Amino acid sequence: MTALPQERKLVTAIPGPKSQELSARKSAAVADGVGVTLPVYITRAGGGVVEDVDGNRLIDFGSGIAVTSVGNSAEAVVRRAGAQLADFTHTCFMVTPYEGYVEVAEALNELTPGDHAKKTALFNSGAEAVENAVKIARSYTKRPAVVVFDHGYHGRTNLTMALTAKNMPYKEGFGPFAPEVYRVPLAYGFRWLTGPENAAEEAAAQAIDMITKQIGAEHVAAIVIEPIAGEGGFIEPAKGFLPRIAQFAKDNGIVFVADEIQTGFCRTGQWFACEDEGIVPDLITTAKGIAGGLPLAAVTGRAEIMDAAHAGGLGGTYGGNPVACAAALGAIETMKEQDLPAKARRIGEIMTARLTALQEKYPAVGEVRGRGAMIAVELVEPGTTTPDAALTGAVARACHAAGLVVLTCGTYGNVLRFLPPLVIGEDLLNEGLDIIEAAFAGV
Ligand SMILES: Cc1ncc(COP(=O)(O)O)c(C=O)c1O
Repeated sequence: MTALPQERKLVTAIPGPKSQELSARKSAAVADGVGVTLPVYITRAGGGVVEDVDGNRLIDFGSGIAVTSVGNSAEAVVRRAGAQLADFTHTCFMVTPYEGYVEVAEALNELTPGDHAKKTALFNSGAEAVENAVKIARSYTKRPAVVVFDHGYHGRTNLTMALTAKNMPYKEGFGPFAPEVYRVPLAYGFRWLTGPENAAEEAAAQAIDMITKQIGAEHVAAIVIEPIAGEGGFIEPAKGFLPRIAQFAKDNGIVFVADEIQTGFCRTGQWFACEDEGIVPDLITTAKGIAGGLPLAAVTGRAEIMDAAHAGGLGGTYGGNPVACAAALGAIETMKEQDLPAKARRIGEIMTARLTALQEKYPAVGEVRGRGAMIAVELVEPGTTTPDAALTGAVARACHAAGLVVLTCGTYGNVLRFLPPLVIGEDLLNEGLDIIEAAFAGV
């Protein structure tokens, strides 16, 4: 297989005729609940490019939702996963184990924040990791309640739907939800009523007051928070908020769980986003970027907490599948060898500079935010904070038509988010930004 040329190329309208044929088959065969953002059907992908069945090559600012940070089919991922595929595909780690699982656990114990003794358990998806973090925290504390935050997203299983803030599309019609889940405010500076400068202090005070008064801190097993709220709109909690909440958890014997499923593995310019404010979580959940595109997820944390669950209480048939573990070791090797945290920081510098210039030109850009290669713009009616989801959708569609994969997100559907692979070339990155600029000019 020849390497995929790192250039955008449009040979048909987007989506092209072959993609449209496949969309018709999808409509007939796949449940409607499985939605599609951009219905171009992919045949190859790598670096910063995805190629579709019609021969179009699009620039990728999505990475399959923050997964292919090392690029698609990264050399070390293919080499290690390929060798593992040839050796054996599955035994079930809970039946007859294998070294790859242990190696991934050792790597995670070393890479995650904190010098304390750590242990890890592996799962298949982010939601499953979050569910297990809650199980472990409950088992350790013998307490029932879980505290989560406004704008939080943690998955689509029953418990993680309960932990997730936004109703449509994640929860609508899917209840009843798991009990003992309590939601408190997040320090969302751009939308904080008394101004961004007050957000950290006031939101933390409100959150702590609600926990103390409405639940009782002594009943709380875990506080679960994304260091940057992903699906909720790439919201960086105002500086100072996370340390305050982490300290409150520590003072009250509550397990502090950082959900780094979207922010982890070099995405924000550090191995983990918590590191920016020196937070050392008790437990950390990871998935997405961990294995270069193969399904793998993990809970890593303080050994005494991780060991609280009895033998047989954690696991699953496929959790820590040997091929996924081999891929993870390949992804981690790539991240270290290519210094992907530094690449993410460089991407952040380029994107932030260009999007800030865009904001000066277009007052609909209310805020440019994010860190590393996790950058977003929030679109509003000029001069207000009124969300403009229609404009957001129009800009995204214009980008798609021009051959750039972009995603939207946000509680109000008014955030354009950019998650390029960390290995994208700077030419492609700048070309993608040109397309975004042109999309704003066009709509
Ligand atoms: C912060 C966060 N937690 C959990 C999840 C759920 O992960 P998965 O889709 O792998 O179940 C996601 C997915 O977007 C996420 O961003």
